[in-house]
Amino acid sequence: MRLLHLPALFALLSFSSALPTTASSKPLPLLIWHGLGDRYDAEGLHSTGELAQKVHPGLYVYYIRTDEDGSADRTNSFFGNVTQQIAQVCAAIHADPFLAPPEDRKHEDIRVDALGFSQGGQFLRGLVERCEGLSVRSLVTFGSQHNGIAQFQKCGDLDFVCKGASALVKNNAWTEYVQNKVVPAQYYRPLNESTGGPTDGYLEHSNFLADVNNERAEKNATYKERIAAMEKFVMFVFDEDETVVPKETGWFAEVNATSGEVTDLRNRAIYKEDWLGLKQLDKKGGLEFRATKGPHMRLTDVVLKKTFKEFFGPERKTKNAAVALADKAWRYFAHQDVL
Ligand SMILES: *[C@@H]1O[C@H](CO)[C@@H](O)[C@H](O)[C@H]1NC(C)=O
Ligand SMILES: *[C@@H]1O[C@H](CO)[C@@H](O)[C@H](O)[C@H]1NC(C)=O
Ligand SMILES: *[C@@H]1O[C@H](CO)[C@@H](O)[C@H](O)[C@H]1NC(C)=O
Ligand SMILES: *[C@@H]1O[C@H](CO)[C@@H](O)[C@H](O)[C@H]1NC(C)=O
Repeated sequence: MRLLHLPALFALLSFSSALPTTASSKPLPLLIWHGLGDRYDAEGLHSTGELAQKVHPGLYVYYIRTDEDGSADRTNSFFGNVTQQIAQVCAAIHADPFLAPPEDRKHEDIRVDALGFSQGGQFLRGLVERCEGLSVRSLVTFGSQHNGIAQFQKCGDLDFVCKGASALVKNNAWTEYVQNKVVPAQYYRPLNESTGGPTDGYLEHSNFLADVNNERAEKNATYKERIAAMEKFVMFVFDEDETVVPKETGWFAEVNATSGEVTDLRNRAIYKEDWLGLKQLDKKGGLEFRATKGPHMRLTDVVLKKTFKEFFGPERKTKNAAVALADKAWRYFAHQDVL
């Protein structure tokens, strides 16, 4: 540098002193998507959100719903077209004033963390892949069915909504009627005994999972880009889960239903050929396989708190941000020199 470029220096100084306000110390908002048979206004779900707020004061929690009426929201967790539900949730997120970026960064994506319970986990992943203008830093899922289910879950004796959904799935899973209406059918994924891969019926008719997992011949490059762009994708499995069959679907693993043999995600084609950006994410240290004690959805405050502390909260200034700043400064000075 030939001279001390005062104007340039001032510009740089004011630029970097403006940084702390842009890279705010406020925690990123948190989206929470509940599981099958639950509702967004349930006390248990809100106590989880409040726990996250205790860990990160000032945290804004958005409870994902498909209806403002909690009872209808619960029914929609059994019945509906998941593609439509995700599109509806994406629109609602864009309409929420508390999720919108600040005035001076209006053009930027909505930046959030996300927490999914059971089926809410794979639906959030679908949201990450499909919702334009939404940028998810950390996605944490508990007991989710990323690789689908081999059988429909058992319903409680008096849970007639659940039983109704279950009855519809039996022998009719691949009809358009069921794929359009019964939520768990849209992540039902039986295996072909002879190939070990999913059945032809699944690949042809699955309304949700085969698409968001990029399992069909034609892959969606946007899905891959958006998964790889996250900082963290954290998958928790309950070690005594008997509700979700097989439980290892929570880690995106494949399980031979006859032998019980588990093929880990890293040994599957979806990872090795990187259909979904999971390998790319793993290479930058973004993929976490975690186990937690107990049956399906037996969560403790200790595990939740630790997880919230580790993966949520204010955006950390990354090395990349520092590199980008240095690069910007360098180009600024280089430009001044040319002048
Ligand atoms: C891929 O997904 C994006 C986001 O949902 C969508 O806009 C686009 O049309 C899809 N591309 C193809 C080829 O299906
Ligand atoms: C689910 O909804 C989407 C979007 O409206 C539609 O394209 C798709 O055909 C529906 N699925 C079924 C199985 O009807
Ligand atoms: C699944 O396990 C059964 C029983 O061990 C075996 O016969 C079958 O070949 C396995 N399927 C695949 C695709 O590996
Ligand atoms: C299983 O795979 C074989 C070989 O690709 C195929 O011929 C058969 O139709 C498949 N069966 C099902 C139920 O998908």
